[in-house]
Amino acid sequence: MKYTEIIDKMTLEEKASLMSGKDFWQTENIDRLGINNMFLADGPHGIRKQAEAADHLGLNESIPATCFPTAATVANSWNTELGKEIGSFIGAEAVAQKVNVLLGPGINMKRDPLCGRNFEYFSEDPYHAGKIAASYIQGIQSHGISACVKHFAVNNQEERRMTIDTVVDERTLREIYLTAFEIAVKEGQSKTVMSSYNRLNGEYTNENIHLMQEILRDEWGFDGVVVTDWGGSNDRVAGLIAGNELEMPTTAGETDKEIVKAIYDGIISEDALNVCVDRLLDLHFTTEKVFEGEVKTSFDIEKHHQQAQKAAEESIVLLKNEDNILPLSKDTKIATIGDFAKNPRYQGAGSSIVNPTKLDNTLDIIEELPITHIGYEQGFERYGKRNKKMMNNACQLAENADVVLLYIGLDEATEAEGLDRSNMRLPENQVELLHELHQVNPNIVTILSCGSAIEMPWIDKVKGLVHGYLSGQAGARAIMNVVTGQVNPSGKLAETYPLTYKDTPAYQHFPGKEVSVEYREGLFIGYRYYDSAKVDVRFPFGYGLSYTEFEYSDIDVTDNQVAFTIKNVGDYAGAEIAQLYIHSQSDQIFRPEKELKGFTKVFLQPGEARQVTIPFDDKTFRYFNVQSNKWEIESASYDILIGTSSADIKLKDTKLIKGTDAPQPYHKAELPSYYHGKVADVKQSEFETLLGRKVPESSWDRSKPLGYNDTIAQCQYAKGMVARLAFRLITFSHWFLRKIGKRETANLIMMSVYHMPFRGIARMTGGVVNMPMLDGILKMVNGHFFKGLRHFLRERRKMLKSQQQVVGNS
Ligand code: BGC
Repeated sequence: MKYTEIIDKMTLEEKASLMSGKDFWQTENIDRLGINNMFLADGPHGIRKQAEAADHLGLNESIPATCFPTAATVANSWNTELGKEIGSFIGAEAVAQKVNVLLGPGINMKRDPLCGRNFEYFSEDPYHAGKIAASYIQGIQSHGISACVKHFAVNNQEERRMTIDTVVDERTLREIYLTAFEIAVKEGQSKTVMSSYNRLNGEYTNENIHLMQEILRDEWGFDGVVVTDWGGSNDRVAGLIAGNELEMPTTAGETDKEIVKAIYDGIISEDALNVCVDRLLDLHFTTEKVFEGEVKTSFDIEKHHQQAQKAAEESIVLLKNEDNILPLSKDTKIATIGDFAKNPRYQGAGSSIVNPTKLDNTLDIIEELPITHIGYEQGFERYGKRNKKMMNNACQLAENADVVLLYIGLDEATEAEGLDRSNMRLPENQVELLHELHQVNPNIVTILSCGSAIEMPWIDKVKGLVHGYLSGQAGARAIMNVVTGQVNPSGKLAETYPLTYKDTPAYQHFPGKEVSVEYREGLFIGYRYYDSAKVDVRFPFGYGLSYTEFEYSDIDVTDNQVAFTIKNVGDYAGAEIAQLYIHSQSDQIFRPEKELKGFTKVFLQPGEARQVTIPFDDKTFRYFNVQSNKWEIESASYDILIGTSSADIKLKDTKLIKGTDAPQPYHKAELPSYYHGKVADVKQSEFETLLGRKVPESSWDRSKPLGYNDTIAQCQYAKGMVARLAFRLITFSHWFLRKIGKRETANLIMMSVYHMPFRGIARMTGGVVNMPMLDGILKMVNGHFFKGLRHFLRERRKMLKSQQQVVGNS
């Protein structure tokens, strides 16, 4: 321990007080020992520091900051140097705003395209996500403050995120859901990790000793701080035992008292608490250093805006370019159509909302460019309502253009934290407009704004398709630079675009049932599935076009690396992303057809050739063996594949690798789906064989009274009539708000009320309601209205009295 001298001077109560927040964003201070508050702020693609009213839902405004493209966007750059730069710019802004811990990056895997928060995550591949995340973390932490990689772990859906139990086998957990975190912790050296809301195999992640202690601390050597997601603490003492230093936000001292009591009762030793205090103090003192002396409280807004533009330019993906319709030449007559051109969709919704320092707008920028712009029409209503007049106006304008630039996408209420999408389609009114426009002018270039994969049955109606994702405050200019050829697009998809949602591997098991979600598809998410099961896709993982072309040659595999040559054989200077995949030729231990093990991005002038190398590392050949409970290497021949995407392999060599001779972990005949990669319909018994146990009951037990971890939604079958009425009121308000077009407010009801467990009433109200008062509420819910009300009021009086005493004493 580093800070024994200070810790020895603390009372037990003081130590416990450091284990939870002082308010919504700050940690506790102990002035007499020189311990100040730390400020934690979202993240991840810009600072969201709230100076006044606080919330974690994106409701109240924050201090202006640069809004960089979201993680799903920057992931397409496949550029770790860029990640580091963005991290460094965000870190500088965090310092200027006196933020000690930046709550990001978010690196959960894109198990399913419908997860509402995919826009905030990098990839469907753990290696890719881990590498980019590590670079962000290094950039952020280069300023002396802390990043906070989140949400640890298996938080792959928003539906019932605070209670859902993720049922996943150990190998899948390690290879798919933890590897990105492993890289972020070991290579990125993240000083802080945020535990997720959900349960993992029956236990809240924050209390899960296997996850938090055995893997995070013992295996990965993490010696930083674990912070709960906001309101995500369930049993504070169990969390502390698992090594959770900081509960956020404040519980007004309630859980500090639980810690003190647990020590008196001998449930946890004071030494164990001291270790947590020591780690928290380390975070305090190391991040505080940067605020000593003179600190720059401002930053160069224009310079940071330029960096946001650079990030967007490197991340835009050109998906289609029929007849080389792009880049547009100077005298092309352009009509701009679509609401997203005027009101850009440039970031996500929820806790990551940034209040941008400025915001580029396509319609302003277009006027500055050397193209002939003949006008703009909105074309459709943003929230899906059909509008014939808007459509007709758009068609009239399109008739007179050489090329139509059509700005379409998903709106902010569809893709948001707290809820998953219900389908992968674009709104019907936008698709209808596209069809109508195609009738009058087939030269359509579509600019897409959304943070996750969508179905594109309409793709043959467009000649050009530029995917801007959620490209941040400078995205509009970046996109126009690509469209006009000032920037040669170089982004490649970090997630697969399936033909239809039905083709996705978790289709039958997303978002799970009432209590749990079973990851029956195992290792086979994203391209790992489509490649193994031979399912056609719209756009494969790693795909993206350029205005130039590249040729690959001369593969040379040694023990430590693969080298090869890339040549720019086209007319434009541009960058290519080369990807290393491996394929095991053995059929003894099942593996996906291909796994990404490295990548590199090279910029080449026309005619230029360069030899590049991608090194092998500890992850290249490993797999997790559930018998030996360790990472092992299977002795086998491995294909070393260099691709321009996961589906387009340009070079191949084979290497014989001597393995670790671990025991065979599986009986092949018992796991046919996994050995064939055909996992879309795995039967329960086969999944249980993989899991090594029975799956838990997945439906609510309606016979039991409701408790702390049951959700408000379960009031629908509560014994108390008032609770059932409250449930009806909530569902009616949700329906009504949607009906009158208040979709974002309706979402908030789902996010912050409907799916919230009862304990959230105490954990999220900063001391307004405490756990004994919650007991009263639960009595009412469970059919003892008056008894519950009396209990509630009695406990409230007690709480107010003790608060007054505290005020009196201080
Ligand atoms: C989100 C976190 C975020 C926190 C604080 C939670 O709802 O899941 O990602 O950092 O709020 O705003």
